Amino acid sequence: MRLPLLGVIMALTLGGAAGCGAQSPATVTGLRCEYLVGPLGIDAAHPRLRWVLQSDRRGEVQTAYQVLAASTPEVLARDKGDLWDSGKVGSDATIHVAYAGKPLASRARVWWKVRTWDGADRPSAWSRPATWSMGLLAPSEWQAQWIESSAGSDKERRPAPMLRKAFHLAGPARRATLYATALGLYELRLNGRRVGDHVLAPEWTDYHKRIQYQTYDVTDLVRQGDNAVGACLGDGWYAGRIGLSNIVPGGPSWGHYGPRPRLLVQLEVELADGRREVIATDASWRVFSDGPIRAGDILDGETYDARREPLGWDGPGFDESVWQPARVAEAPRARLVAQPNEPIRVVRELKPVALTEPKPGVFIFDLGQNMVGWCRLQAKAAPGVTITLRHGEALNPDGTLYTANLRGAPQVDRYTFRTDGPETFEPRFTYHGFRYVEVTGLPARPPADALTGRVFHSAAPDAGRFECSSQMLTQLMRNIVWTQRANLMSTPTDCPQRDERLGWMGDIQIFSQTACFNMDMAAFFTKWLRDVRDEQAADGRFPDFAPHPFGPAERFSAAPGWADAGVIIPWRMYQNYADMRLLGEHFDAARRWVEFVRRENPGLIWRKGRANDYNDWLNGDTIVVENWPRKGGEVPKEVFATAFFAHSAELVARMAEVLGRKDDAARYAGLAGDIKAAFNREFVKPDGRITGDTQAGYALALNFDLLPDALRGAAVAHVLEGIEKYGNHLSTGIQSTQRLMMELTRAGRSDVAWRLVNTRTMPSWGYSIDQGATTVWERWDGYVGGRGFQDPGMNSLNHWAIGAVGEWMYRALLGINSDDAQPGYKHFVVRPRPGGGVTWAKGEYDSIRGRIAVAWKTDAGALALDVTVPPNTSAAVYVPAKRAEDVTESGKPAARAEGVKFLRMEDGAAVFEVVAGRYAFSAASN
Ligand code: BGC
Repeated sequence: MRLPLLGVIMALTLGGAAGCGAQSPATVTGLRCEYLVGPLGIDAAHPRLRWVLQSDRRGEVQTAYQVLAASTPEVLARDKGDLWDSGKVGSDATIHVAYAGKPLASRARVWWKVRTWDGADRPSAWSRPATWSMGLLAPSEWQAQWIESSAGSDKERRPAPMLRKAFHLAGPARRATLYATALGLYELRLNGRRVGDHVLAPEWTDYHKRIQYQTYDVTDLVRQGDNAVGACLGDGWYAGRIGLSNIVPGGPSWGHYGPRPRLLVQLEVELADGRREVIATDASWRVFSDGPIRAGDILDGETYDARREPLGWDGPGFDESVWQPARVAEAPRARLVAQPNEPIRVVRELKPVALTEPKPGVFIFDLGQNMVGWCRLQAKAAPGVTITLRHGEALNPDGTLYTANLRGAPQVDRYTFRTDGPETFEPRFTYHGFRYVEVTGLPARPPADALTGRVFHSAAPDAGRFECSSQMLTQLMRNIVWTQRANLMSTPTDCPQRDERLGWMGDIQIFSQTACFNMDMAAFFTKWLRDVRDEQAADGRFPDFAPHPFGPAERFSAAPGWADAGVIIPWRMYQNYADMRLLGEHFDAARRWVEFVRRENPGLIWRKGRANDYNDWLNGDTIVVENWPRKGGEVPKEVFATAFFAHSAELVARMAEVLGRKDDAARYAGLAGDIKAAFNREFVKPDGRITGDTQAGYALALNFDLLPDALRGAAVAHVLEGIEKYGNHLSTGIQSTQRLMMELTRAGRSDVAWRLVNTRTMPSWGYSIDQGATTVWERWDGYVGGRGFQDPGMNSLNHWAIGAVGEWMYRALLGINSDDAQPGYKHFVVRPRPGGGVTWAKGEYDSIRGRIAVAWKTDAGALALDVTVPPNTSAAVYVPAKRAEDVTESGKPAARAEGVKFLRMEDGAAVFEVVAGRYAFSAASN
């Protein structure tokens, strides 16, 4: 299927190239290994490489490539690949090119570069070099032992232990590499300086199954002579409090994986003379169990007493005689794996926009943006004075901090001053969701710039930019992006502030495509889908959230729409990143999930085994404004569940198809067909009415292609009636809202989608923005003017599920759509749907194959549409027009423009197939 298409593109291209004479060939940039920029310590046996071509030339293609991989930069600089020289490979592949050179041992370092050939067989220049290194590939490579503090009992929580080891290096270091992980959280220091910039390492996995280690290049931190390495250990997700711990009857609220944190460090130093020194955690390390971090917890906050700082503890020459020997702990049975995703990092800082004093001595900093991370505060007080920082998302009417919606997550940091000089406080083993910070205990009013909001998250690179003439919609996308930043904390969380913060699968399932537009999620999902597989029960049940610290088979698993994320998100990895390896690794898990539902429900209506059955969560019926007149929006649970069952079966069939598993493809396509037939028999009347007659029911049936073609029109008519019945508002919940928007557009009723997205009365996105929201709310009625906040028992102001409309904004408003037949944007569809009174929109998406840009503008009925198609890709572009002849490209009739081929008229648009390049289409007024 792919080759003939490539042929078409090449033919178009060569025509173009011939007219271009001696234009310079493409630049090769954006080198990545396993999705990451210059990763250290990876453990993929055949790392996959990727590059991006840059060129403005129309029809730019890659017809061949050559990769060189070398063991030193010098060898590479001589254009030699002593590890791998792929030679000239005739191929248009720029992604997932698997390393096929000499086997790479643990610790191997690789320098690599690429060049490509264009349609006229002219080579590009070599790319700039990039690197990666291998981690410790076998358990036997670890000489380090797990160590911990032996102080106190396992029944109580203790101050964060500090561990250290002094060592001597006989000569200068040529290279020093540090491998580290912890059960809990760690922060490492070497000779008084911080190692790396990771926050909350080693992040959250099911520590009974898989523990991630990190690799750091510390060559610049070690020195000849005396050295010392130190570590602070936090309880983190391992030993601290985590969301929903109250579901464990009678259980403790902390220590779900273990009672006390442990450390594993292996520092390997290669001296200039070739000798090798290994400094590894063992019984010779010393521990201090009464240090300044009196308490540190993800949900609670951190309590720091600077008077207890053992000054100089992280450097050589420190008197450690009162420190205790570390206790060697039993090695966990879990697998040690290299971290495959971008670490959590501080990615930006915010300065307060206001400082108020609602009560004497109570100072409230307003960061102007609901954010996630923590604060750095510089302040002065007398030694022994303790200040308190409380964090909240909103203010009460009297200007004091609103914290009721945090439930059991205090988010309180405390700091006790050591001296009377200015001191700087910044916590380490917690995180908070907040816009406002209340500081009490200071002797005097601080300057507003004393505080800095430090924003951190799993640092998936930004991928999308969006703007349009509607301020409200531009703000909506901004809110969506901030909400995404807030909830990428090594797992895709539901919320960042209250005592929950779990990797709820249903929320990221619906948000996943929006997430991929805003950020490059490939590495993040690679990690998290392992979490999902780790938590799959033996009977095939996927959990409702991952990691799942409470035993997936027992409870909180198998919910329709939530567990289905275990099928839907791998498919997103295919659509967006063409990740076949991941599909291959995941296929069996996805299949087993569908088999579980089938076993429970041989009649193919999903009645049994729905466990917590959240249904279309937070649909219009859950709005709790007094006398809310609009009821009847909730889709019947069996309709909802069976729709997801059919969808998952169909996606498993498509996965099998692209993996070349023909029998499975036929079997699951058959199953999907049978479930659809059962759905229609059970729930669909001859006039297209679906049981319950809800907006959500029609949205799901349309979006999952459950209805016979003949009934689609009727279903659309019913959904339109449903919207009208609901006072021209949505009655949908988190799972059907975005699907409804897409289906309105697919049915040619973008006008209605536009009306909904432009609505400013509740329930709508616009309503929250008019109330001053800077992130997406969990509920349509999170705050209602004149009434106040919704039930504090469940009212996050930073939840991404209804922000899934970002997908509609990228795919319909702007018009960027992937194409399942050629995934990873090898071919894509640009189909903007101007409307809604918006006069222009523009955006960019950094696809895995390069930057796609779309900008449209309407002027007195005429439309201008600029499109950038990355080199080596092609696109179908839909230009709204009555006739193809009304469309020009750069002033010429479009059908005759270079690189453009007219395909057909379709639903009021002229459709053109275009090769790589920049295009300026215009359509005369319709
Ligand atoms: C979370 C959700 C989640 C849900 C399950 C809530 O507490 O915040 O977003 O999907 O539970 O119903």
